[in-house]
This record gives sequence, structure tokens and C-alpha cells, in this order.
Amino acid sequence: MYIATSRTTCARALLLSIRNTIPMAASPLFSHLKPPSSSSPLPHRIHGPKPFPQVLSSSSSYSGRSPFSSLASVSSSKPHKRIKPPVAALHEIGGVKIAKDDVVRESDPTNNVPDNIFSKIGLQLHRRDNHPLGILKNAIYDYFDASYSSKFVKFDDLCPIVSVQQNFDEVLVPTDHISRSYNDTYYVNTDTVLRCHTSAHQAELLREGHSYFLVTGDVYRRDSIDSTHCPVFHQMEGVRVFAPDEWKGSGTDAASYAAMDLKKCLEGLARHLFAVEMRWVDTYFPFTNPSFELEIYFQEKWMEVLGCGVTEQEILDRNGRKDCVAWAFGLGLERLAMVLFDIPDIRPFWSTDQRFTSQFSEGKLGVKFKQFSKFPPCYKDISFWISDSITENNLCEVVRGIAGDLVEEVKLIDNFTNKKGMTSHCYRIAFRSMERSLTDEEINEMQVVEDL
Ligand code: PHE
Repeated sequence: MYIATSRTTCARALLLSIRNTIPMAASPLFSHLKPPSSSSPLPHRIHGPKPFPQVLSSSSSYSGRSPFSSLASVSSSKPHKRIKPPVAALHEIGGVKIAKDDVVRESDPTNNVPDNIFSKIGLQLHRRDNHPLGILKNAIYDYFDASYSSKFVKFDDLCPIVSVQQNFDEVLVPTDHISRSYNDTYYVNTDTVLRCHTSAHQAELLREGHSYFLVTGDVYRRDSIDSTHCPVFHQMEGVRVFAPDEWKGSGTDAASYAAMDLKKCLEGLARHLFAVEMRWVDTYFPFTNPSFELEIYFQEKWMEVLGCGVTEQEILDRNGRKDCVAWAFGLGLERLAMVLFDIPDIRPFWSTDQRFTSQFSEGKLGVKFKQFSKFPPCYKDISFWISDSITENNLCEVVRGIAGDLVEEVKLIDNFTNKKGMTSHCYRIAFRSMERSLTDEEINEMQVVEDL
């Protein structure tokens, strides 16, 4: 097995200068790099002084017990009571040292990376052979090694700090695409982001001349909070490039040949991992055409597990592979691992609790996770008048900033517009610890903002 590292990517990304313009847009949710919506984006500032303008009620009209006194003054520059362990100040990935100050700059309005996200960089769960994500990664490697005589080169410690160019431009994401917004992506500065997909490495690896490669890594998206969404998760990207003599004589054109090969490869992978029903769905990605999603039938529902397609010719042309055709896929490791190991929630992947970690061992794919005592949730409702500057992702970011991994879900439960046209939203926040019962008092205390 060959594992390569990129020492230059990170340094290059970090050296990019800070400009004073901030791309401003807001969207409800990151929606899989689909085409931009026609509605114009709402302007907002991530580190604006008061992201949550007005508190509507202290929950008297809702069923929550003790709401946040105010989120209005919860800004990331204010210290407040936290029950999280301190964040390590330095990470090392693929030989590159990343200091906290390189990534989190609270006074910089072009930066929206919070502490709790920095603490996840460098943990590299996918590189732990006893972790469900590492076990799954290795099982996928086995499939590719066996099917392609170990031709796929594997990268699993490329730095997650990449340039906007790598993350978006080089894979043809349109400049007005919603995924570029500060609402959806973590920006280190205007030119540098935490990669939101492993496709960010496609172009540079093509330029380096690779024709078969797999890239596994942690990816970062500002997102809502529930059992299948976490702002940090893991993806594996696969790319295969064909030279003209590979499809000539096949009787089909290059793109059809690549699409057929791609589907054959991924159906084989799905069969290697589980015995389930599957289906292909046509979709859109800016970097592939045609594009598909593979869905598997799980717990009486169709669940999307990967996106893929035939690489846009422009990407190949720009990166020194003019006469070639290629396919690419990106799969979400947590989703597959949840199915394979019967893990009901995305949060335990980050657990250091022995009762979780001891259940998995190297090479053992599909061991069924046994739920250890699940402590009861503690619910709190919060309501406030909404405005253009508030999005669900911003709210989730604030909640996560205060309560860290104790937040299990943030859910909109009520929506009310008064005669003057002012709208209020009520969110129910579920807090739950894997280690202990949370008390109402401790959550209330967390919610009290110091200057009130
Ligand atoms: N990058 C896409 C995503 O994150 C997945 C993908 C990769 C789709 C490669 C097509 C080709 O959703």
C-alpha cells in the first residue's frame, strides 16, 4: 500500500493573503453542490456584532423549560461558560504543522472557523485502523487493490486547509454557487477554506500525473444538527483516467465507456461491502457530466451513499490530460459506516469512550454496534424574531460553540408571522451526553450569557 502526503498544499493555502472583501450569501442548507438557486442570496456577516437580533420570548408560549436568556450577545469573541476540554494549539497533518492562529481568527471578519472545528482538524479518525471509519477505508482499499491489481494510489493525509481555487474553481463550481457562501463553508480567509469535499484535490493530483487515485479525508461544512449531520465528516474520492486506446475499439464513445465502467466499479464496491438492493439516480454536480447518485435500500428507505460521474472534459483539458476521459466518485464514510456497523447517530464516531472504541477492531467489518446505556436528552426551546442575518446554520454554529458535542439536534418546531409581517422561529434543542445524565441546571447555566 502506498500512502503519499502533500506537504505543499497546506503551506500554500496558508500563505494566501487576506483580502478585505467578503463573499456574502446565505442559504438554508448545503445542498450537495447542486446548481445555484435563482433567488438572490441574503447578505450576512458571520462575525457581525449581533447575529441574533432580538429575543422574542422566554418560551412562555412554547413547551421548553428554560430557554436561552438571549442569543443576541453570544458572539464568538465573548468568552462564556464552556464545558469543553481545552483545544490543542497545534496539529500536524502530513508533516505540516497547523497552529490554531493559522485557522481561527476571531477578530478577522473574513474568518468563520470556530474553536470547536479547529479541535477536530488533525484527529484523522479515518487513519485509525481500529475505528469504524478506518476499518471501512481499509475494506474499500481491499476492494480496489483486488479489482485493479493495486493500481490505485491512496492519499489519506492531504491537508484539509485548501485554497478557494482548489475547493471550488478547479472543479468548476460556479462563482455564484451557494456552496461558496460563508453560510455553508468554513473560510480561513477570503482565499482559503477548510475543504468541503475531497474533490478539492482532484485537479492537483491529475496535474501530478496520477490516473488511478483514492483520496480519503475529513471535510467541513457548516450545517444543521441532527443524527446524520455533523459539521465535520469524512469522504473518500476516487478518480480513474482512461487513455484513448482503452475505449477505442469498444464500440462506444469515451463518455459512455467511462460511465459504464464507473457503474460497474461502484456496484462491485457496494456488493463487496453489503448485500443490499441498490439503484442509480441521475443528478447534477458541476464537475461531472453525466452525474449519478447511488442509493441503497436501508431500513425501508432509499438512502444516498455516493455521488459520481464522468469528469467534465474541461478539468482534464486544464490539467494536462487532453485526450483522456475519466470518472470520479465521492462517498461519505460515516453514512456507510452507520449502515455497516449499525451505529444510529453520527456523534459517537468522535467518542473516546472505551465503551464505543473497544467494540471495533482492525479488519472486522460489519460488527454490530451495541448501544451502551443511552442517557436521557434534555430539551430546551428558543424563540426569536428572524431577520435576513440569521440562518439555521448560524444558529447551529452558536449552539455548537457553547455546548459542543452535547448538542444532538436543533429542530425548527414553530414558525409564526404577526400582523406587522415579523416572523419568529422557535427551535427545540436536544442536548444529550453519551457519558452521563445532563441536568436541567447545568444546561441552564450554559445558556446564561455573561453580560445579561
Ligand atoms: N464532491 C461531491 C460531494 O461532496 C461528490 C462527488 C465527487 C460527485 C466526485 C461526483 C464526483 O457531494
